[in-house]
Amino acid sequence: MTHSSRLQCADDFGPFDGRIWLNAAGQGPLPHPAIRAAEEALAWKVAPYRVPENAFREVPHRLKRALGQLIGVPPEDIILGNSTTYGIHLLANGLPWREGDEVLLIDGDFPASVLSWLLLRERGVTVRLLRPENGALQADELAVHLSPATRVFCASWVNSFNGYAIDLQALGEVCRANDVLFFVNGTQAFGTRPLAVSEMPVDAVTCCGYKWLCGPFSTGFCWLKPDLRQTLNYKQVYWLNNMRGDDFNQVLNYDLRDDLGAAAYDVFATANYFSFLPWAASVEYLLGKEIAEIARHNTALVARLIDGLDPDKYAVQSPREGPARSTLLVVTHRQPERNAALFQALKQAGIDLAMREGNLRFSPHLYNSDDDIDRALAILNAA
Ligand SMILES: Cc1ncc(COP(=O)(O)O)c(C=O)c1O
Repeated sequence: MTHSSRLQCADDFGPFDGRIWLNAAGQGPLPHPAIRAAEEALAWKVAPYRVPENAFREVPHRLKRALGQLIGVPPEDIILGNSTTYGIHLLANGLPWREGDEVLLIDGDFPASVLSWLLLRERGVTVRLLRPENGALQADELAVHLSPATRVFCASWVNSFNGYAIDLQALGEVCRANDVLFFVNGTQAFGTRPLAVSEMPVDAVTCCGYKWLCGPFSTGFCWLKPDLRQTLNYKQVYWLNNMRGDDFNQVLNYDLRDDLGAAAYDVFATANYFSFLPWAASVEYLLGKEIAEIARHNTALVARLIDGLDPDKYAVQSPREGPARSTLLVVTHRQPERNAALFQALKQAGIDLAMREGNLRFSPHLYNSDDDIDRALAILNAA
């Protein structure tokens, strides 16, 4: 069966100078509404009298509204960051740890999901890496490794190196049943897979903005369940957040606010309009296309790629079908030493993808078409 994608979004992106961008898992391009927003932000800074009076509040609020809608939580529960790591760092450093507590992670996960936790070893926390038997850690594998000391299980929803998606529901249920916090890195999933966090047994999520969410670099957000957030043993304060009103004629006040909720953990200077204005426009644009629709489109492109590959030449390392399949497809030539040359051949033919851990990684997004996939296949299969 030949799979056909459905969205027609290519005109809202680029131009890509005639090239084909199959690397949303590396960097997502800005859609045109976001480019216009970036131009607007630039115009503000060229002549600062243009900066709207309410920009300091409205820029972060607008972004939080869009991100809240994306994951199905109230905007005031969104914490704005500058990366995926921001959210992981916040939880890893903020939880009230006791000597002997344990964190479980996945061996083979992207370093952002792992490194912040490793620092906790200095504080007497045990950090263990679990190697999945087969691509993605299963709920029963996790269950075997849990101990009374386990406090947190943290994993990427979609693995950057093999494209496997973990089963959030099943793993989250195991965590819930054992009183373990489940922290999900949504970086390779949000924007290409729908998720309403309130309907899933997850306690916290974190994500960057510059991949599937098509925002600028140096953007990200996280969400912690409000009751979890309230247990954090870490505080920060930023003068602009701490102001009670918007009157810059009355800035001089040292009373610390204790009513900020999630906003207390925002990265400093959230009125970062160069980044956050275009990112808000990107997320609004994606929401307008509907994430479920984007997921169907991207999945059809991946299925087309899988079906079209010459099986004598290529092995697909990601799941070929089923719920563990994602919109990242990792492929290797049956002679893996040829992958680097294939990557270059595709690049020379105007097709950009990623090489990760020696394999070819394709990650099509809503601006890609069947034709893009067919052009990549023609080069791969002729090699
Ligand atoms: C799963 C995953 N998490 C995080 C990141 C990036 O982390 P950060 O946003 O902290 O730079 C990547 C980048 O490829 C990733 O694949």
